[in-house]
Amino acid sequence: MHRIAVVPGSFDPVTLGHLDVIERAAGLFDEIHVLVVHNPDKHALLPISERVSLLERAITDSGMSGSIQVASWNVGLLVDYCTDVGATVLVKGIRSQIDVAYETPMAIVNRNLAQVETIFMLPDPGHAHVSSSLVRQVAALGGDVAPYVPSVVAEFLQGESTD
Ligand code: PNS
Repeated sequence: MHRIAVVPGSFDPVTLGHLDVIERAAGLFDEIHVLVVHNPDKHALLPISERVSLLERAITDSGMSGSIQVASWNVGLLVDYCTDVGATVLVKGIRSQIDVAYETPMAIVNRNLAQVETIFMLPDPGHAHVSSSLVRQVAALGGDVAPYVPSVVAEFLQGESTD
């Protein structure tokens, strides 16, 4: 059986924590779709197309192996995308009890809606404190985001701040 998993998120921007989860998910499934989803609860920094482009370049640069593709989704339910591509599993990175509280209802609803299971993956401890919102804040205030993001993202944000 060909197992397909979706790794969804805002990826605004992709962090080293995200890449860690994507790489480990790619080791568990035959095919991974990294899906950039518009989250209406968050004020976006980057357009979806830019997030997709940075993700693609970061995944290529990292040299990670496996069948990994990047896509975006902004029409309808996340599980509709899963059904369209034949994915049966969602993979989410979990850093804290706050993430568990946020993700648990969504996991239950997604299973009820379309029998899509959610797997929670613990981050590498080195990335447990990293979030896109922290990166956005550090970048906006002129700090160095290089320890938290792939180099393509650090270079992109650096270019943005000097424009
Ligand atoms: O990186 P984020 O912002 O924590 O990602 C959250 C995201 C986009 C994955 C989450 O908001 C989500 O799953 N959205 C899908 C919308 C949806 O299908 N909702 C109904 C069932 S939960």
